[in-house]
Amino acid sequence: MPSLHGISVLPLTSLGLDHPASEERISAGVPGLDAMLGGKGYYRGSSILVSGTAGTGKSSFAAHFADAACRRGERCLIFASEESPAQILRNMRSIGVDLAPWIKQGLLRIEASRPALFGLEMHLVHMHKRVTEFDPRALIVDPISNFTSSGSVEQAEAMLTRLIDFLKARSVTTLLINLTSGGDALERTQAGISSLIDTWVVLSDVEVGSARRRRLNVLKSRGMAHSSEVREFRITSNGIDLGNAAHRKARRR
Ligand SMILES: Nc1ncnc2c1ncn2[C@@H]1O[C@H](COP(=O)(O)OP(=O)(O)OP(=O)(O)O)[C@@H](O)[C@H]1O
Ligand SMILES: [Mg+2]
Repeated sequence: MPSLHGISVLPLTSLGLDHPASEERISAGVPGLDAMLGGKGYYRGSSILVSGTAGTGKSSFAAHFADAACRRGERCLIFASEESPAQILRNMRSIGVDLAPWIKQGLLRIEASRPALFGLEMHLVHMHKRVTEFDPRALIVDPISNFTSSGSVEQAEAMLTRLIDFLKARSVTTLLINLTSGGDALERTQAGISSLIDTWVVLSDVEVGSARRRRLNVLKSRGMAHSSEVREFRITSNGIDLGNAAHRKARRR
């Protein structure tokens, strides 16, 4: 008897735009970023893009977001396609974010695979299955740039639209990471993806004198009065520091 278990049916796109829109806000995991997002963080169930060139701190922001979800007692699922779970745990421990206890407690799952091995359609099926099984409240895809390498930009965008539709219908807050290559990160990120995104955080590093400084800008965040500042941040062994050091010192005095 042929089994039906191997068959998955996925809608091509949802017909209506009828996702729920929560008023609830959840922490980005970095207090300084919550402050920039109207003081309250992301909307629950929204889609967030964190983009930047290599090494700008994208995965570190994702780790803080995952950690904050687990601290609230919520399940978080990470789809990683560049680093193995062991690498992610080691690297994030180096910035003071220990995700291992959350895995032990069953709150965090890291699914690592290369989309090119499956093809985009099968990868989407795989993601649907994992989401349905684990039923996370927060989800991270690190990075989505790998989708474009295993299909055309149009195919990757169609796949992301279907994924985001599916996740929004379930009120899963989704953080997508996009690795942009060299040059102007803003220009090079596909405009097509932007329309799917509620909050877009851009990371960059800039040469100042003989050093490189990390910078962050909230390019857009639908439905809230967000900061439009370009803020400097540091990655430290105690996590991301996006505080304004000068302000803090002044307050302490
Ligand atoms: N303990 C630490 N203290 C200070 N900086 C650190 C520490 N650990 C890592 N870093 C910095 O963080 C950077 C990596 O950050 P992260 O992995 O979040 O960047 P990314 O944007 O995800 O990189 P990639 O493009 O490779 O995926 C390292 O290149 C290093 O400069
Ligand atoms: Mg990374």
